[in-house]
Amino acid sequence: MTAQRVGAEPATQHPPKLDQSKTPYFQALLEYVDSGVLPFHTPGHMQGRGTELSFREFVGDNILAIDLTPMPGIDDLLQPTESIKEAQELAAEAYGADHTFFLVNGSTSGNQAMMMTALNPGEKVAVPRNSHKSMLGGLVMSGAYPIYMQPAVDQEMHMDNAVTPETVARTIAEHPDLKAIYLVSPTYYGVAADLESIVRITHDAGKMLLVDEAWGPHFKFHPALPISATEAGADLSINSTHKMLSAFSQGAMLHQIGDRVRLDRLKAVLKMFLSTSPNLPLLASLDVARMQMATQGAALLSQTIELAQETRHRLNSIEGVYSFGEEIQGRDGVFDLDPTKMTVRVTGLGYTGYEASEILRRRYNIQVELADLFNVVALFTIGTTREAADRLVNAFEEMAREDRPLDIYAPSGILTQRLKRGTYKMPAIPPMRMLPRDAFLADTEFVDFRKSAGRICAETISPYPPGIPVLAPGEEITPDLIDYLRLELKAGVRIQGPNDDTLRKIRVVK
Ligand SMILES: Cc1ncc(COP(=O)(O)O)c(C=O)c1O
Repeated sequence: MTAQRVGAEPATQHPPKLDQSKTPYFQALLEYVDSGVLPFHTPGHMQGRGTELSFREFVGDNILAIDLTPMPGIDDLLQPTESIKEAQELAAEAYGADHTFFLVNGSTSGNQAMMMTALNPGEKVAVPRNSHKSMLGGLVMSGAYPIYMQPAVDQEMHMDNAVTPETVARTIAEHPDLKAIYLVSPTYYGVAADLESIVRITHDAGKMLLVDEAWGPHFKFHPALPISATEAGADLSINSTHKMLSAFSQGAMLHQIGDRVRLDRLKAVLKMFLSTSPNLPLLASLDVARMQMATQGAALLSQTIELAQETRHRLNSIEGVYSFGEEIQGRDGVFDLDPTKMTVRVTGLGYTGYEASEILRRRYNIQVELADLFNVVALFTIGTTREAADRLVNAFEEMAREDRPLDIYAPSGILTQRLKRGTYKMPAIPPMRMLPRDAFLADTEFVDFRKSAGRICAETISPYPPGIPVLAPGEEITPDLIDYLRLELKAGVRIQGPNDDTLRKIRVVK
């Protein structure tokens, strides 16, 4: 499983061929359980003996038996020398990385760790505006100076796409003192960037490339999926293994390639971020998810991709429903697509995405991953069955047969108003008046949001989903942003990040 990588030094660290059918860490936990050791150690439930009965009955004895703590025979995530080291080496080989590290706080901690590793206070990093809010956490922690890149926006689809190689090249030309480029690929909607070109541009300019590939842990394991960040040769990249593969929630991986990143610094940062008491079943699930992909990934993902494509085709035959596919490939910022992300545009049915999501849940007992004003997004993974896909299609067919309860394109409708006023464009990036870290740590006060124009925001304001910040700490609150966010609230969007999520008050620098 060697990766074809562009612009990176050859991987030299791991042995040539490991046995990918092994799960050394899971095995170590099983051996501990089988040995019948009498526990006088954390966690206090003592392998389930102290667990409240109804909870124990529900979750089962086995998961409690392997909920242990680092000790002899069970490696330590912070100082791995045995089975975790082996499990991480197997993962590195499977992904084509020089080193892979298991994370127990999702890609959220991965973003923070990448920034803290690559950047010192005041150093410049180019970041796309459609980054997840955890990127801002990385900026606050590292004290780095962000240069925002606007992703390509598809006005017809009302969707922000990936950052293009041209934007990266222009940003580097305008800011030659940039230390690193940070990218999100794929986007929440499954749109992937041209990573190979971006790696080439970034490395030719002597910069590091950090990639938030939270939504692409499966890419490496199927040729029909976009090229993965490790295959492209990104210096650091992160995957939420729990999002699209079978790991438990919070399970993620950080991959490192080449010698642009200081490995000692990365290890020191991870030690700071990782709990001394990680959840061991979670770590075991990362070990097993890697084994599953390395040994059966291509076959499992083939089935998933086939089911997703077939379902997309069925959905597109329903009047009023549209799920984009290959036909949008090649548009600005759409280099490649993950077919397992099913973005379903529902406005033709007379619903906003939020309303469709609620109807799917209430009437059909179906919960989608994401809703925005125009779409719902359903994930297709190796856990999605044909029966589930049928139910999704049937629900949309039934919704399409009904009278439209709402005319969202009526003159007074939210969409008409917004489209007419042209306000559905992502708002312009507001001017940055202070570094995110300085604003976050400054003396602050709460003011009436409607009257906050001109003040410097001290918190992150992200309409959710998809959790893309429209205001970051250190940025000036503009009248346009106040207008935009009030419309979002009116359309029923939840706002994440601020102390007051109704946005009546906003925290600003004094
Ligand atoms: C692009 C992106 N990066 C990072 C994250 C955070 O990942 P996690 O939930 O694994 O912490 C998310 C979560 O949705 C995301 O969409």
